[in-house]
Amino acid sequence: MIPDLLSFFCFGFCADQRNVTEQGSLPKPSLGAWPSSVAPAGSNVTLRCWTPARGVHFALRKGGAALELPQSPGSPEGPGEFHLADLQIRNAGEYTCEYYRQASPDTRSQPSDVLLLLVTGHLPKPSLKTHQNHKVFARGNLTLQCEKPDATTQPTMFALLKAGASAPMQLRSPEQNRAQFSLQDLAVGDAGSYSCVYYQTRAPFLASQPSNHLEIWVMGDYTTGNLVRLCLAAVVMVIVGAFLAEAWYSHTAPPQGPR
Ligand SMILES: *[C@@H]1O[C@H](CO)[C@@H](O)[C@H](O)[C@H]1NC(C)=O
Repeated sequence: MIPDLLSFFCFGFCADQRNVTEQGSLPKPSLGAWPSSVAPAGSNVTLRCWTPARGVHFALRKGGAALELPQSPGSPEGPGEFHLADLQIRNAGEYTCEYYRQASPDTRSQPSDVLLLLVTGHLPKPSLKTHQNHKVFARGNLTLQCEKPDATTQPTMFALLKAGASAPMQLRSPEQNRAQFSLQDLAVGDAGSYSCVYYQTRAPFLASQPSNHLEIWVMGDYTTGNLVRLCLAAVVMVIVGAFLAEAWYSHTAPPQGPR
């Protein structure tokens, strides 16, 4: 009777609860590449798998297959780190990571989102240009155009890169041999050195050399700010002046009756 009642009340609810804890206890980690997921051949890149869960082991996959790449020793509390030294074109591809507890290595977390690692330098260099001024006011827009030298029919994508960023700023499919990147509502922090690459969307994921760098300047709206400050200063001076005049007047000529 009692077990029946229990299973009656548990039906649905307990099953749901168990599913939530089993899947929810190992949520998907995030995978990033440092210094960047678009890196030149011969350079070193670190892939970092991050999760808020503590004391777990990490595993890396490339194109869905487990990689025999040992996790670099780090603090057991930190993210999982995998070092790729002297990058070769065979390192390019789609990576995911996952983690598990040592006690139950067969219970894996959900895989991270896919990180596409590109090794540049294997296809001719594209050119990056804009028909607008490189100096833009904050909140302005700018269109950049990346063009590859030949019109090969291979499926390619274009990526806009910014120096210091660990991932492409934008990805675009090409129209013929070029792609347009639209930078909108620019902030002062968007200023910097931009370049672009194009790459194959399938293995072996060959990527071009990076284009020339294009310096973008974003000017803050200083003129309006200065005008406001000037007006405020003028108002303050008028008020102070009025107080001084009032003080001077009451000091030298005492009022001769009720005002
Ligand atoms: C890559 O790392 C190795 C050590 O693993 C180091 O000897 C080498 O100088 C590094 N290369 C670059 C380009 O930083």
